[in-house]
Amino acid sequence: MGKRANLEKKTELRTHSPQETKKLAFRLSPLLYPRDVISLTGDLGAGKTCFVQGLAKGLGIKRKVTSPTFVIIREYKGKLPVYHFDLYRLSLEELEDLGYEEYLFGDGVSVIEWGEKIYSLLSGDFLEIELKRTLKEKERKIKIVPHGVSWVERVKRWFNADTGF
Ligand SMILES: Nc1ncnc2c1ncn2[C@@H]1O[C@H](COP(=O)(O)OP(=O)(O)O)[C@@H](O)[C@H]1O
Ligand SMILES: [Mg+2]
Repeated sequence: MGKRANLEKKTELRTHSPQETKKLAFRLSPLLYPRDVISLTGDLGAGKTCFVQGLAKGLGIKRKVTSPTFVIIREYKGKLPVYHFDLYRLSLEELEDLGYEEYLFGDGVSVIEWGEKIYSLLSGDFLEIELKRTLKEKERKIKIVPHGVSWVERVKRWFNADTGF
């Protein structure tokens, strides 16, 4: 138990503009590998898609990234492929029909808005990022929870690097 608690040490920070949220994500991108899974949670307008935009930019993706709310999964080609999921309107059964395993176990990075809907399907290794609005219009509280050894180590590198946070 103790060990597991250590592995899930949380990091909390605040950003003060959409640009700052994108920069945070941009700086995570060099630490990513094929098959990584990042879950983004938080209400509508919390900044999940904004985070994905920064990440995609960091992976050299030029195409404009928008919420795949209606298409559910959109694929972008960059240094690594990015599979951008938005599970807002989706049930588990529908997700199974979409063949989500091909993405989760594919060659790219899966970034999943409303990822908490499928925690039962994920392996123990993933990065959880929770975004919350605050009383200030442009401020967001961001909680980062690494699940699994590789993410604990990478979250440390993410913040030891000159992140500016
Ligand atoms: N600090 C911030 N970080 C991210 N987005 C912010 C921030 N401050 C204001 N915003 C605004 O909040 C909205 C977030 O939208 P979006 O990323 O689509 O949210 P979600 O995907 O969670 O529904 C955008 O309009 C963005 O400009
Ligand atoms: Mg979104």
